[in-house]
Amino acid sequence: MTSDIRRAAVCPGSFDPVTNGHLDIISRSARIFDEVIVAVLVNQSKMGLFSIEDRIEMLGEVTKPYENVRIETFQGLLVDFCRAQDAMVVVKGLRAVSDFDYELQMAQMNIGLAGVETLFMPTNPVHSFLSSSLVKDVAKWGGDVSAHVPDTVARRLTDRLRPQ
Ligand code: PNS
Repeated sequence: MTSDIRRAAVCPGSFDPVTNGHLDIISRSARIFDEVIVAVLVNQSKMGLFSIEDRIEMLGEVTKPYENVRIETFQGLLVDFCRAQDAMVVVKGLRAVSDFDYELQMAQMNIGLAGVETLFMPTNPVHSFLSSSLVKDVAKWGGDVSAHVPDTVARRLTDRLRPQ
């Protein structure tokens, strides 16, 4: 059965930087939805390691194989961004039960605010402990993060964190 309905999903986050865990969720979402919009949060009050431009560039490089994925930025409420994009589904990766409490709160708030649905996707277990903060901390102290981030990200982390 064919349908004219465009099914779009939003994968939101800070992506400072994108990890293999993020990419796993983005690529699996791209197989399910017609279009996946990766939404990078612009948080004026939180200085990241990478600029928004760098994060977008890295995301663009690593999602190049997926033709139905595009990268956008947003400020303010995620549900407002979803409405503006005409995409009423958010996909979130769940790494462990510990993620669930807060994610459930946000999902319930978002459905109440604007009818935006959240679908939880279990992270591939090989990434269950992975987070951008952990990757940055390991890289900062010279640890090898090449198994956890795409090559372009690993290179940029080394460049950025190398002692000057
Ligand atoms: O990668 P992160 O930092 O865990 O992503 C968190 C994000 C961006 C998904 C979340 O902070 C968010 O949705 N922020 C937008 C502001 C908003 O809508 N807040 C109300 C949530 S119910």
